Amino acid sequence: MSTAPRLFSGMQPSADSLQIGNYIGALLQWREMQVTNDAIFCVVDLHALTVPQDPKLLAEQTRKTAAQYIAAGIDPEKSILFVQSHVPAHSQLAWILNTITGFGEASRMTQFKDKAARSGTDSASVGLFAYPTLMAADILLYDTVVVPVGDDQKQHVELTRDLAGRFNSRFGETFVVPEAVIMKETARIYDLQNPTAKMSKSAASDAGVVWMLDEPAVTAKKIKSAVTDDDREIRFDRGAKPGVSNLLTILSAFTDEPVPVLEESFVGKGYGDLKTTVADAVVATFEPMRTRALELLEDPAELDRILGNNAERALAIAQPKLETVYDRVGLLRRPRSR
Ligand code: TRP
Repeated sequence: MSTAPRLFSGMQPSADSLQIGNYIGALLQWREMQVTNDAIFCVVDLHALTVPQDPKLLAEQTRKTAAQYIAAGIDPEKSILFVQSHVPAHSQLAWILNTITGFGEASRMTQFKDKAARSGTDSASVGLFAYPTLMAADILLYDTVVVPVGDDQKQHVELTRDLAGRFNSRFGETFVVPEAVIMKETARIYDLQNPTAKMSKSAASDAGVVWMLDEPAVTAKKIKSAVTDDDREIRFDRGAKPGVSNLLTILSAFTDEPVPVLEESFVGKGYGDLKTTVADAVVATFEPMRTRALELLEDPAELDRILGNNAERALAIAQPKLETVYDRVGLLRRPRSR
């Protein structure tokens, strides 16, 4: 038995390829955290269904997301990397948690309010409303201690803590109360063409978004065409020099050099030098990852074997927990036929 703290995090299969923002904002940090934690990473396909999806695309993106995580260094032997819908206990526990969650409590979730306002409350689904209780089930099934998330998910982890405590006091000690670890905010990456907007898959133009699965020449071209400014000084200043600052942030993440050290190294050099250096660093990291991801995607049998094994490892933890919960709330165990 491992004594390292149990860590759980999830990512939606909502794009064909991960972009620099996901890579630095989540993946890079998860890869480091898996070394010292007993880590479980979940591709949350059931969560993706809370907004309309094209079925064929969802299936493809689920595979592609898993392949890129493996390619980028999530180790599917040391850690567990699995697809949420492969472990039915997630939906089953979510239902139980729905029954102890207040309607008002769920209505206060700011992400729900934002998303519902965007789509119009009438077309927001009950699934979207219940998104946070499914996330709580993800976390609580595994006796999770550490939940690395972006700032926007903090309120969902707070709800998870409340639900764990509530269940424990009503039905007896069952769940570990988890702790959110907010991932580094310095990791915020902006669109290369519009460096005051977050880099996002929904950007108006693809030119400002760098994808892990882009061909190396495309990546280099996008970086070399990044918007900068009219003076020539390479210095970090988000307000006055958003484009240059963004390039420095990216370079810092890909080289592990602090921004001030980088600033120093570019004294007397031009934006062309900066862009070339950034392009080389990103390509050097992404090219082998792209190659490995494409290899996995060309051999779906191998990818499925990995995902199948990992789902079984997850199930071995989740199923006994679900059975305890069923017992505690008074659901009869299914009699096995002889
Ligand atoms: N809601 C998270 C996000 O959008 C993804 C997620 C689902 C998750 N289940 C989780 C994150 C459990 C941490 C733990 O980023």
